[in-house]
Amino acid sequence: MKKNVRKAVIAGNWKMNKTRPEAKALIEAMKPLVSDAGCEVVICTPYTNLETAVEMTEGTNIKVGAENVHFEKSGAFTGEISADMLTEIGVEYVIIGHSERRQYFGETDETVNKRTKAALSAGLKPIVCVGELLWERECNITEEVVGRQIKLDFYDVSAEDIKKCVIAYEPVWAIGTGKTATAEQAEEVCAFIRGKLADLYGNDVAQAVTVQYGGSMNAGNAAELLSKENIDGGLIGGASLKAPDFAEIVKAATNG
Ligand code: PGA
Repeated sequence: MKKNVRKAVIAGNWKMNKTRPEAKALIEAMKPLVSDAGCEVVICTPYTNLETAVEMTEGTNIKVGAENVHFEKSGAFTGEISADMLTEIGVEYVIIGHSERRQYFGETDETVNKRTKAALSAGLKPIVCVGELLWERECNITEEVVGRQIKLDFYDVSAEDIKKCVIAYEPVWAIGTGKTATAEQAEEVCAFIRGKLADLYGNDVAQAVTVQYGGSMNAGNAAELLSKENIDGGLIGGASLKAPDFAEIVKAATNG
């Protein structure tokens, strides 16, 4: 199967940015700029902006995602949000296991796996993040780290369900640092991820899964990264907060 049969997904990860009025202005500016996109366009916003984002993007090609989800259906989990709460307001995607959640909020492969399964059973499309620390790359264990994450994060996820997932390869050293992996480095690990999926699920399934690159992707470097065989899209932090920059990346994915 060729790259052009997989769905390219460009997803913005707004992180902890944008009040409601700011979010409205950004979405308004973004809508006309991405309306003819040839790829899936997703904006993942803070919880407080989700309902606004869903309302404002109704009837457009922009899909809305959350930045996290709890794995239990309901109960005494103060401060948490369930998958059903997200789907009920029209959210379609959710980022799971972002390195900032792993680093600052004690996210483990076990909880990433639980969240992924909870999201899937509620009908959400998970964007599951994996990636190595700089120290791990220097020690030459990138494949070991990423391979372990793939195995654990998708433990007990069926072949049918993995096809609904997006995997974001985000080397931790490239996130928010302005240091992008070279297109070759990114392609190498994305190809490795696809190989790992082939081991676990067979080649047909592996060829159908969207694998993104994330980490300082911007309007200047997106085209080269997205031209690679195994890079099917991007998870965009900083550059997703500026409508023209995000639109440039969407354009690169449309052409790439
Ligand atoms: P960045 O963030 O584009 O600002 O590096 C990417 C991400 O954290 O998803």
